[in-house]
Amino acid sequence: MYTAAVVTVSDRSARGERPDTAGPLAVSMLEAAGFQVLETLVVPDERADIRNALTDLADRKQIALILTAGGTGFSPRDVTPEATIEVCQRLAPGIPEAMRAASMSVTPRAMLSRAAAGIRGRSLIVNLPGSPKAVRENLEAVLPAIPHGLAMLLDGPADCAPESPR
Ligand code: MTE
Repeated sequence: MYTAAVVTVSDRSARGERPDTAGPLAVSMLEAAGFQVLETLVVPDERADIRNALTDLADRKQIALILTAGGTGFSPRDVTPEATIEVCQRLAPGIPEAMRAASMSVTPRAMLSRAAAGIRGRSLIVNLPGSPKAVRENLEAVLPAIPHGLAMLLDGPADCAPESPR
């Protein structure tokens, strides 16, 4: 069982003006997939706040999988991918590529998510868009592959043979 944390990035939720529904949805999907969710946070759309949350979860709390929800779009306040890239030592572009590819069959607006993913130390950080619908659709697309990535990151060389023919 891998540990996980969910960081909701939203000015309005951080100010208490809008209940956070995306974060709890991500938590329930993680738990259903067998993750142990140890932390949930809500931070405003500020690079420094996002960076501080991610580095604390990765370095001090040693969380294996850190999801963010929100702040991946085009509005001037959307800076989650930039903060994520700043704290990652290695990027994992295949994860957001897969999310956008799967989401394009749902909505052409999927291309507007600038979500990033990457590795800091022994943590994998994955950005999700902020609406509950987008959280569900994007997480469903990538969650099945993530434990194998974490096995490589945390447990050393992993057997990459497919579990079943594709
Ligand atoms: N992906 C899926 N699967 N479903 C969605 O509804 N919404 C898109 C996109 N990705 C969406 C999606 C929209 S409308 C935007 S603006 C971007 O995600 C960025 O969302 P964010 O600003 O909440 O991070």
